[in-house]
Amino acid sequence: MSNEEFRLLSDHDSADDDEDAESVGHLYTRSRKTLFTAKATSVLLILLTSITFNVVLLFKSHQTTIASSPYLKLAFDSDDTLWWNTEYSSENETEVDALWMRSIPWESGIIAMTNGEAAALDLPESQPWPWDSEKKRIYIINAHHILHCVRNLYISLQEYRHDKNQSVAWPHLLHCLDSIRQDTMCMADDTPRYVPLNAVHGFRPGDGQNRKCRNWDAIQQFVGEHDPCYKYIQPGNKELSNLERFQYCPDDSQYLPKIRQYFGYDESWLPSKDGA
Ligand SMILES: *[C@@H]1O[C@H](CO)[C@@H](O)[C@H](O)[C@H]1NC(C)=O
Ligand SMILES: *[C@@H]1O[C@H](CO)[C@@H](O)[C@H](O)[C@H]1NC(C)=O
Repeated sequence: MSNEEFRLLSDHDSADDDEDAESVGHLYTRSRKTLFTAKATSVLLILLTSITFNVVLLFKSHQTTIASSPYLKLAFDSDDTLWWNTEYSSENETEVDALWMRSIPWESGIIAMTNGEAAALDLPESQPWPWDSEKKRIYIINAHHILHCVRNLYISLQEYRHDKNQSVAWPHLLHCLDSIRQDTMCMADDTPRYVPLNAVHGFRPGDGQNRKCRNWDAIQQFVGEHDPCYKYIQPGNKELSNLERFQYCPDDSQYLPKIRQYFGYDESWLPSKDGA
């Protein structure tokens, strides 16, 4: 910036400037200063543009930071398309039922993390993992908890539709609904779903609309890498010790001797051959 412009910007300090020089109207009434004013205005404009640009840049980089998931640092970088209905809400009940009952990874989501990993993520204390209680702890991934919940709600609604007794207790169902409510608000997905024009038939709000998602496979991979050897056998059986559900390690697991010893199985017992 030149000295001249600096001087001009501080002109209102001079003695002949007896009126309120900070008023924009004042600047334009002084013909002597018109040229300078034009210059000053453009300098100000450039300054303002530059400041705005920098603020937007700062804001954007901040947004990118907070847009990543808090623990695995997953960004919203996976392409996805919204559909009002998917195969999970198609008209063929047999197919829908099979998907809700078998294709949702509702049994996975429990993980075993080393104390070090948990500390690095600043997680609260959690139950020790049975086969390495000094070194590992159990956690449950929140997204999987929600999948477990929507599956429970599906089961309950199907039982209601077909006049069957409810197999999932009401407090559990209410907890599931409430969890979805909490997570929906916490995640606050701000995608504005478009509303199809009247001329477009058969389309519902958001149909075919692109959006960005986090990479589900990345979460599933993380869960796989922290296998807790858990299988939700005999769901709802409160008599069964939960330890029974933690015996399903891979056949070559280093923990097999411990598991065999605990349950009194002989050397030939393999998790994959367990009938459960
Ligand atoms: C529903 O899907 C099943 C399995 O794919 C199929 O066997 C059945 O014929 C379908 N039912 C109808 C009404 O389309
Ligand atoms: C539902 O539960 C009631 C009460 O526990 C029982 O009498 C009835 O037989 C059950 N019905 C079915 C279809 O299982």
